[in-house]
Amino acid sequence: MYLLAVETSCDDSAVAVLDGNGNAVAELVSTQIVHGSYGGVVPEIASRLHMTILPGLVREVLEKSRISLKDIDVFAATAGPGLTGSLLVGLSWTKAAAFALEKPFLGINHLSAHLHIHHSSPVEFPAVALLVSGGHTMIFHMPSWNECILLGTTRDDAAGEAFDKTAKLMGLGYPGGRIIDQLAETGDPEAVSLPSPMGSKKLPEFSFSGLKTAVRLAWEKGNVSAENLSASFRKTVCHLLVSKTMYQAGKYKARSVLVAGGVSANSLLRSSFKHQCDKRGISLFLPPIEHTMDNAVMVGRAALSVLEADPEAHSPASCNTFPRWHAEKLSPLSC
Ligand code: KG4
Ligand code: ZN
Repeated sequence: MYLLAVETSCDDSAVAVLDGNGNAVAELVSTQIVHGSYGGVVPEIASRLHMTILPGLVREVLEKSRISLKDIDVFAATAGPGLTGSLLVGLSWTKAAAFALEKPFLGINHLSAHLHIHHSSPVEFPAVALLVSGGHTMIFHMPSWNECILLGTTRDDAAGEAFDKTAKLMGLGYPGGRIIDQLAETGDPEAVSLPSPMGSKKLPEFSFSGLKTAVRLAWEKGNVSAENLSASFRKTVCHLLVSKTMYQAGKYKARSVLVAGGVSANSLLRSSFKHQCDKRGISLFLPPIEHTMDNAVMVGRAALSVLEADPEAHSPASCNTFPRWHAEKLSPLSC
């Protein structure tokens, strides 16, 4: 059984062919670097570039996997949340291919897909999951792969957004998460005292906009190095993310902690989670660095999870995009 998965929710075009066990036979991600010069993703440019890039990317992935399009058994694409124009390109292309070849199509929720990058790993339940990306910061309780309950989210900026905005105000470039992470390695995390808004570990909610303002004020004073401010900022954000997740892991007697999304590439976040989970005997699942960011393997694994629960599952031909996800329970199938 072979599945072709497509992801175009933001500025990465990604395609993967997976086998029935969730192994990637071949995958490619094409990142649109043009947005760096605008200091953020320009939706109109992103959707037009997906339109140009996607057909060639599909052809290349099929060539790499030595599988022809007519040998694909199931098609899956991200339906949302994300940028509408970008989503429409991947969703429409994939629906059309499935329709033409008379194969099932599954419209996948991007947030659930990030968590499903771990679907081929030996996760023991109950689990607690932290999803940290450029657009989301969410903690979930997962009694199984089929049940994913939102415990809390951010009231303003997402963690990745806070990294990006902080890097921008310090003139470090975009996207800023990786740049701040690298600078922080040689900085002193105690150099600048920053606030921890909504800091109680018992509260599974986040607020990062006040922290960003505190960084701006410290930076404008001018007597702090980029390394020291980056290290202080990174330490504050990581402490909030780890302490709140670990508290919920204790509360729900989690046997596993799952971390996913672009910010899960952060080196301090990874080492802090490892330390905390080792100390408590909880299994930790971190994505390999290349699967922390948006990719199509996670979309494919989410689709396989849907088919595992119901082999006949598929989305209707009318399956549409959606920009935001508002619910208490997260499912991989979006429609
Ligand atoms: O999951 P992702 O690729 O896209 C979204 O769905 O948002 O996440 C991108 C985010 C960006 O905000 C980027 O700055 C952040 O992940 N990021 C990092 C690191 N690498 C990427 N944040 C902190 N530390 C990193 N090493
Ligand atoms: Zn994402």
